[in-house]
Amino acid sequence: MNKTLSLLSNQTDLLIIGSGAAGLTLALRSADFARITVLSKGDLREGATFYAQGGIAAVLDESDSVDSHVEDTVIAGVGLCHRAIVEQVVEKSADAVSWLVRQGVPFTTKPITRDMNPRLSEEVAELSSLHLTQEGGHSHRRIIHATDATGKAVFETLQRKAEAHPNIKLLEECTAVDLVTQTPKGSSRPVCVGVYVLNQETAKVETIKAKFVALATGGASKAYLYTTNPDGASGDGIAMAWRAGCRVANMEFNQFHPTCLYHPHAKSFLITEALRGEGAKLELPDGSRFMPRFDSREELAPRDIVARAIDFEMKRLGCDCVYLNISHQPSEFVKEHFPTIYQRCLEFGIDITQERIPVVPAAHYTCGGVVINATGETDIENLYAIGETCFSGLHGANRMASNSLLECFVVAFDAATDIQEKYKATEFASAVPEWDESRVTESDDEVLVSHNWDEIRRVMWDFVGIVRNSKRLNRAERRIKLLREEVRDYYVKHPVTNDNLELRNLALVSELIINCALQRKESRGLHFNLDYPNTLEEAQDTILSPKKH
Ligand code: FAD
Ligand code: SIN
Repeated sequence: MNKTLSLLSNQTDLLIIGSGAAGLTLALRSADFARITVLSKGDLREGATFYAQGGIAAVLDESDSVDSHVEDTVIAGVGLCHRAIVEQVVEKSADAVSWLVRQGVPFTTKPITRDMNPRLSEEVAELSSLHLTQEGGHSHRRIIHATDATGKAVFETLQRKAEAHPNIKLLEECTAVDLVTQTPKGSSRPVCVGVYVLNQETAKVETIKAKFVALATGGASKAYLYTTNPDGASGDGIAMAWRAGCRVANMEFNQFHPTCLYHPHAKSFLITEALRGEGAKLELPDGSRFMPRFDSREELAPRDIVARAIDFEMKRLGCDCVYLNISHQPSEFVKEHFPTIYQRCLEFGIDITQERIPVVPAAHYTCGGVVINATGETDIENLYAIGETCFSGLHGANRMASNSLLECFVVAFDAATDIQEKYKATEFASAVPEWDESRVTESDDEVLVSHNWDEIRRVMWDFVGIVRNSKRLNRAERRIKLLREEVRDYYVKHPVTNDNLELRNLALVSELIINCALQRKESRGLHFNLDYPNTLEEAQDTILSPKKH
């Protein structure tokens, strides 16, 4: 398939780092006016997108409205959502779904068809035939999905389309190391002119010149010991942007998904929130429910509330997990709606049609990221950030379920339009410095990389988790600072590898998370600090600038 090619002499109009929903969407939307290269540091599918289960939030039902979706998002975000971007994204939700349907994504449909209303146009009939499920924080059924494997269906469709397009080149096992920027004479704003890329096949760092670069590198949840995310979620795009001079914001808002399978070999396998949308209840070991004691929306309260309630009950009772029970629903219904989860749990000896699922929370989503404007551009000219890597202001202090994929599509659409407008007037940089490896020597101490990787993730889990306090945050700050120095020292002396690049980025984003958490002197949404339990009247983003650090 798309194995790594030699990157030598490469230049490309638009270089997209990341082959998830955001990256592939931008590629497809730009391919008719530009030559595009898409990089993935591993297999193309190894982003979070492939694993997305629940679906995509969109206003499609007649009884639903843009206003209602906007309000739900703003409520879940606890005062920190930027209303303009919420409106921009939600207003385009139906267009995004319509585009996906046209690409051929096999969404689950309901048994209502155009035959029942022959006056509907084909497109409207197609959209109104989609089955809508329910998730936390949403006051309507508005989640379109492909059973419980929505991400796989989206990814495979977009990948197929991208592979077939003559202007799109997809490269695997190519890790972006750092951005190349230049500041034109008389300007104070740097311009992105290319990227240093580790070609894992040759173990060489090559330089790719580009007129435009987009960071579509996903989130940073791998900073935590237990996470639903694939291994590559090490915040590379956030770290690269920060090193190049971009601001990042709201990194303290790490979302913990309430329900991941609790089993020693399950690697925090996600149990979709849609299960609760279809009636599953959370139970304590003795079979009693507890969510009604925490929120009137019960199991369908926003995620921060449900995850904190589970954490509270587990600590109160000293139990290892709580349970999610959908066994009261007809067995056929469960198997039809949740085939992936049914099969996966069965592999671990749990028949979810008959018995309860042991669950715990795990790190799931990075609400903060690289600060962008309304069209996805960062503080650096011609550098875009899209998808989970970016901070658009959509999610506020807590992302509402299934708004993430939606953001990937809509921000990628807008970035493509912006790039097209600037395209003709943009030239390649004339000269870009090559990567300098003259001062490095082979490592005889690779164990340091795996050791530090484990230590960072444990520190973050223990001290910067669901419930925080200032003493723990300060302790984490000290530990991560030391680890960062060690990692930096190792990095400059040895040749780059995928592992030491990820470690360097993970150490940096962990520090950014802690810095943001220490700056927030309140509890809001996903950030809960026992020393500041109240929510301040004025909601403010936490914005970090590399110039001040
Ligand atoms: P990703 O899909 O994570 O892709 C990142 C890409 O960047 C990968 O190709 C990776 O190889 C590449 N990359 C990273 N660093 C580098 C580098 N240095 N060099 C080269 N390439 C690099 N959201 C929803 O809205 N609905 C859901 O139902 C849903 N379910 C989820 C279930 C799970 C288990 C998980 C983990 C997340 C879920 N989310 C869901 C969140 C959502 O899937 C992600 O936020 C979204 O897919 C992110 O897409 P992305 O394109 O930004 O990044
Ligand atoms: C899920 O299916 O529960 C995940 C949905 C999301 O993260 O938006």
